[in-house]
Amino acid sequence: MRDEVERLWPEIQWIDNPELRESVTETWVRSMDRSPLDPRDLEEIPFTLLIPDCPATFMEHKRCVVHIARRSAEAMQEFLGHALPIDMDTVIAGAILADVGKVLEYEKVDGEARQSARGRALRHPFTGVAVALECGVPDEVCHIIAAHAGEGDLVKRTTEATIVHHADFMSYLPFKNLAV
Ligand SMILES: [Fe+2]
Repeated sequence: MRDEVERLWPEIQWIDNPELRESVTETWVRSMDRSPLDPRDLEEIPFTLLIPDCPATFMEHKRCVVHIARRSAEAMQEFLGHALPIDMDTVIAGAILADVGKVLEYEKVDGEARQSARGRALRHPFTGVAVALECGVPDEVCHIIAAHAGEGDLVKRTTEATIVHHADFMSYLPFKNLAV
């Protein structure tokens, strides 16, 4: 599973801190081990079940969010860095892990991915934080997992979480609006 996770996520290598890199990898490995989905499924299933016939895959969407988050953080560091500290490892790790719990939110019925009973009870921000804490992911990265989606609107997001939240919605809302 580790080889598959490293193949799916070349962006893990962007994380400088080796301990953080390892805990991020381990969170994905453990989540996939507990998921009804195979690593290959992530390159085929739609990234959201909220949009009918969503044309973008899970991995396309998730990797795009990581790239947007990193480039946004770089631009902010360039122009605002003197006034606004941003930890790039935290941004990248948080973006890679934001949706890790989604693989525990699905089940497969007749070859189709759909939301499971667990997924209805515990959306992916909750299950993602649970697995990440088990794997030693630091609190500031778990904060991003917890606060990246709508639930996080009730949380005072850190700068890094704000970046990941907007990167995520930039690559979600246009699809949602197209479908309306
Ligand atoms: Fe999400």
